[in-house]
Amino acid sequence: MTDSIHNSDTHSGVSRRAFLKGSGAAAAATAVGTSTAPLAAQEGGTEVVRGEKTISLTVNGQNRQATVEPRTTLLEMLRYQFDLTGAKPVSLDGSSGASTVWVDGKTVAASTMLALQCEGKAIRTVESLGGDQPDPVAQAFVKHDAEQCGFCTPGFVVAVRAFLDKHPNASEEEIRQGLNGNICRCGTYANIIDAAMSIVKGESHG
Ligand code: FES
Repeated sequence: MTDSIHNSDTHSGVSRRAFLKGSGAAAAATAVGTSTAPLAAQEGGTEVVRGEKTISLTVNGQNRQATVEPRTTLLEMLRYQFDLTGAKPVSLDGSSGASTVWVDGKTVAASTMLALQCEGKAIRTVESLGGDQPDPVAQAFVKHDAEQCGFCTPGFVVAVRAFLDKHPNASEEEIRQGLNGNICRCGTYANIIDAAMSIVKGESHG
């Protein structure tokens, strides 16, 4: 049981190659002053989108729509269209784990996924955790002083929540491995592990 909360590589009908083609074409069209109206075409069985496109998806249980460019990332859409700023833009390659969210139940670095790939998907962010009361993972982070600047914290909270949902009886070593896709530059790892272990031990109710 050592599967980690690595940020999943997610695939859809819109490939990164198609994205590059599409954004390049849009830039070229802008450069010569021609229309950049939405244009979708089939090239080699893959949809190529130029200009903006409106997509429908579920965000934290609500049906939402967003109009995005081919280059727009899931992280940008969440932050700038839906005002969900929990996921953080620390590393665009996802190596920090600070933009971790759920996409169809799997953890993903939102900075590495294109918004167009989210058509019809269910997105869940750190803002979904807890209702009247904060989620026990968030409470455990506070209790164990598991943050300093807090920039990594939302990503860690999602990663811990996702890992413990799958492995409620995980050992300390398994939790360390499970969280190896997230980085804390302030070095609060020991306290984060303590927070997670407190839930496993029943000291914090998870
Ligand atoms: S608390 Fe500052 S990066 Fe983790």
